[in-house]
Amino acid sequence: MVNSKIAGIGYYVPEKEVTNDDLAQYMETSDAWIQERTGIKSRRYAEKHKETTTTMGARAAEKAIEDAGIAKEEIDFIIFATLSPDYYFPGCGVLVQRELGISNLEMGALDIRNQCSGFIYGLSVADKFVKSGQYKNVLLIGSEMHSMGIDFSTKGRNVTVIFGDGAGAVVLQPEKDLNKGILTTHLHSDGRDAEELSFISPGSHGGYHDKEGFEDFGFVDPDVPGEIFITEKIAKDGTYPYMNGPAVFKKAVKKFPEVIMTALKTKGYDTKDIDMLIPHQANLRISQFVAKTLGLGPNQVHNNIQKYGNTTAASVPIALAEAIELGKIKDNDLVCLAAFGSGFTWGSALIRW
Ligand code: ACO
Repeated sequence: MVNSKIAGIGYYVPEKEVTNDDLAQYMETSDAWIQERTGIKSRRYAEKHKETTTTMGARAAEKAIEDAGIAKEEIDFIIFATLSPDYYFPGCGVLVQRELGISNLEMGALDIRNQCSGFIYGLSVADKFVKSGQYKNVLLIGSEMHSMGIDFSTKGRNVTVIFGDGAGAVVLQPEKDLNKGILTTHLHSDGRDAEELSFISPGSHGGYHDKEGFEDFGFVDPDVPGEIFITEKIAKDGTYPYMNGPAVFKKAVKKFPEVIMTALKTKGYDTKDIDMLIPHQANLRISQFVAKTLGLGPNQVHNNIQKYGNTTAASVPIALAEAIELGKIKDNDLVCLAAFGSGFTWGSALIRW
């Protein structure tokens, strides 16, 4: 038996910084409103048509591979988590294999579609592959290019001001000491309110999930054959994500503490034992609420949403890499990762560093 450990980590954020005042040029919003509700001051946007979710993921992966001290050819398996893939299909897993120029053309590549909790889901899967002895070097990437898919008109402001672009990556390897590395992971879902945070077109639903209150999404008449792109609706309104902010907030502040406590209790720990909590950077107010609920002090939590916004599948690895860079995580520390997001799905991982 072996555990798995994060042997290498890296992140990439695009150069272009977009402040709240910059956004106020396109939509009715203000720096004060955004900071008060979300804690965000700025975010990064990738360079359109030159950078993509895949290329950003590759830049983060290169750093993680170097940090792990291995050659890219030693990667056995790639897991790529994103909600903003380059293509409808194929997924970014194979695209990043090509972008990295990996010569092993028979490796596996898996795409994960669990939005904000995508990285934790990916970590749990990677952990099992390493623990089972099947793979020795699993590359896990979380990357998002939100700036290509959000509405810059006032109609989309509640979503658009929150999200930013970026990527984070880790390499998982076996750890012989069973008291170190990834100790436990926990994954959960509740699909009853799937549309409360969603991007439903393009999609093959053809109106199937039509329900009261969601007419604005452009569901087609169920008697008319569905189209992946509802062209008339897109010509009129565009196609953008939808978020019921208050509903997401309510659920997140309940599920984050629950899933963190599940991980701690499973291994016989309590909140005082956490050296560093890396919460998915959904909203600074959510992170603060969670810290308060669990009685965690400022030195026990790392947040960086203020400068990067919510980078969804990339937010946990970016914040984790940054915390390490800042010397906030040391050998033998107990580190907890936790996320909540669209689906709804949520999860946690407990790591002895
Ligand atoms: N600038 C100015 N006004 C705005 C903006 C904006 N960017 N966005 C919304 N408003 C307005 C609304 O139009 C509304 O106006 P009205 O009262 O005249 O209708 C008013 O502000 C209040 O709107 P709410 O949506 O009720 O605003 P709320 O106070 O709930 O804040 C927010 C919105 C910040 C999205 C909040 O609901 C929230 O944080 N929810 C959690 C969602 C979240 O964190 N999502 C992250 C992605 S999911 C994840 O990662 C878990």
